[in-house]
Formats: sequence, C-alpha cells, structure tokens
Amino acid sequence: MIFAANFKTNHTRASTKAYIETLLTKIITKRAEDKVYIFPPATALDQFSGDFILGAQNAYMAQNGAFTGEIGLEQLEEFEIKTILIGHSERREILRETQAFIAEKFAYFQSHGFEIIYCIGEPLEIRQQGQHSVMEYLLSQFEGIDISYEKLIVAYEPIWAIGTGRSATSAEIASTHEALKKTLQKPLLYGGSVKPENSKEIISIRGVDGLLVGSASLDVESFAGMITD
Ligand code: 13P
Repeated sequence: MIFAANFKTNHTRASTKAYIETLLTKIITKRAEDKVYIFPPATALDQFSGDFILGAQNAYMAQNGAFTGEIGLEQLEEFEIKTILIGHSERREILRETQAFIAEKFAYFQSHGFEIIYCIGEPLEIRQQGQHSVMEYLLSQFEGIDISYEKLIVAYEPIWAIGTGRSATSAEIASTHEALKKTLQKPLLYGGSVKPENSKEIISIRGVDGLLVGSASLDVESFAGMITD
C-alpha cells in the first residue's frame, strides 16, 4: 500500500520537520512493503533521511529562469527530490491549470525521470450523470499524458469528496477503480475525505493501491494511525 500525505498550504518548515521526526518514530512498525510519501509546502522542502519519500506538490517545468513565484528543477535537485504531484484538482480549478499545461508539465518531469503522482477526479455534476459520464470525464484527464510511464502512480480524487468530509462510498470507489484499471496498469490511489475512521475500509477495496490524504494527514497521530492500523 501507498500512504501519501498532501499538506497543501498547511504546516511550516518548522512544523513539517517536527511532524516528520514524530512520524518516523510512529511508523517503525509499518509493513516493509508499504510506502509513505509526504508532500509538504515548497518552503518546507529539505533533505530528510528515513523510510519515506519527500515529494513536491508542484513545480514549474524549467531548470530555472524567470518564472516569478515558481520553483523549478534546480530548487528540487537541491534536496534530491524526485517525486511530484501533477494535476491536482485544486491546481486545475483554483490555479486554472489546463489539461494542455498539465500535459506539458507531466512530459517535462517525466523526461527528468520523476516519479509522478498524477491526480484525476470529476466534479459533482458529472458524478450525478452516472458512471458513463464519470469515466468519460476521467479518461479525458489523460489527454496528452503518457500512461505507460513506468514511474506513474495515479490518484483518483473526486472533487466533491475533497475537504468535504464526505468520502465516496466503497461502491463508488470500487466501480471507478475497476473501470480505470481497464485502461491503466498503474498503482491507483484514492483521495477525498480519507480519515482514520474510513481508511481501513477504503484500502481493503479491490483496485485501491493506496491513499492520498489531505486534511486528516495534517495531524501526525492521525496519519501514522492509518499506516500502522
Ligand atoms: P482531503 O483529504 O482533505 O479531502 O483532501 C484530499 C486531497 O485533495 C489530497 O490530495
């Protein structure tokens, strides 16, 4: 299983460091085959040692240059970061990243050998139209994306389940993951209101290879509990 924590715009450099130190002591008993990822805000990126992978929530597709407000490859290389989240719905919706832009970013980080956690997810109005519309929408989010890339992990995060406290049901997760797996031979994570109370049930669903956790990962006890439970 993969357990990934996306801090979004939460935690500072200091609190991320303290979080990681605590997390590592708590997950000493984790199963050897399980993998833990932490995606802190860019200001908290650093070099850590321990049995987990530190990734970037975002970066610009350039080594360096005139891209005000962005970080590029050079800033990631400083900390030997080789994992990145691409396509998160908050970047698609709030930061207005288009599919073409996302595909370009994907290709860039693929060409630099990054492990990519690529996020997809439908809005509520599409979910309400039924499974056929959901799949059509989700598959359109692979436009321009090399889904055969060996370091690709996909995260299915229905937008209506993100930060709402309302996770998708087990049946919705199972049917969507099963349908996605027909196209995608890659690890497939679920994200959207995953918390200690539902994480066990979600990881037991066939076709779920791990979790991408937002709010409930901010508290170290809560995230560690999901890993060691
Ligand atoms: P929540 O766990 O807060 O719903 O966020 C999920 C998410 O967007 C992780 O990337």
